[in-house]
Amino acid sequence: MKIIRNPAAMQRQSQRWQREGARVGLVPTMGALHAGHASLIRRARKVAGAKGIVVVSIYVNPTQFNDAKDLRAYPRPLAADKKFCRAEGVDVVFAPKSLYENDASTAIDETAVSLGMEGESRPGHFRGVATVVVKLCNLVQPSAAIFGEKDWQQAALIRRVARDLNLPARIIVAPTVRAADGLACSSRNVLLNESERQQATALWQAIGLARAAVRNGNLRGLKRRLILSIEQHLTAKVDYVEFFDKKMMRPVKPMKGVRMALAVFIGKTRLIDNARL
Ligand code: PAJ
Repeated sequence: MKIIRNPAAMQRQSQRWQREGARVGLVPTMGALHAGHASLIRRARKVAGAKGIVVVSIYVNPTQFNDAKDLRAYPRPLAADKKFCRAEGVDVVFAPKSLYENDASTAIDETAVSLGMEGESRPGHFRGVATVVVKLCNLVQPSAAIFGEKDWQQAALIRRVARDLNLPARIIVAPTVRAADGLACSSRNVLLNESERQQATALWQAIGLARAAVRNGNLRGLKRRLILSIEQHLTAKVDYVEFFDKKMMRPVKPMKGVRMALAVFIGKTRLIDNARL
């Protein structure tokens, strides 16, 4: 497994792959790798083939953090992540120290699917995500890039950006990997203490409640009921619960087939999840 830390060296390498006609699968991450990332890496291997190249990028992208404390607290276990990638059969880890010029003045703004939910709660977040994903694609030149459903709105944004800006990479979106109790794997889960980890099951429980309500047609005041049930947990505070249409991310009434997303603070840690009702 090769480790590349310099963006220019990454681009030289990907130009060689292009000349050789190699298939390249990219899994963009911010590190603190877990079973969810592993499933994307395996998907990338399937797409690239045994002779193809699987690249995992590890970069805690500062431009997508709208909160300096959150950026500081984000876990960065690079040595463990490299080991993880080696065990998963990754070919190249691209872990740049920085990806931006000090006076960078160009960014990508998507103006439809990125407005609500995460876009509203975290101003500037999706601008940072869109910009870094395009930068990573320019550096790695993948034939396919793999993302997770766990961040549904992010995946929708990236599909849009790829379509609107003609990115050559195929965008693949893979299912959410969960712990046995339903909590979606997330790099932020390591920030939870034992009690908070217990409380974090509130998100998956709320999805279960919403699914039952849709099945029973018991929809009156559903959002309020979900918020109440989540906030029964000691340190849980709901940021939003939203029912939305899966393509445009616009709010819709809860019913079968619609998706639900939620963002919840458990103590100081903000967790998100989503699922089809
Ligand atoms: P990060 O949170 O590290 O996630 C990297 C990729 O893993 C994303 O596509 C995310 O949706 C996916 N992922 C996270 N948890 C998952 C789970 N439980 N099951 C399946 N997939 C999961 O998302 C980012 O980083 C960044 O915004 C990034 C796209 C790298 C841009 O900086």
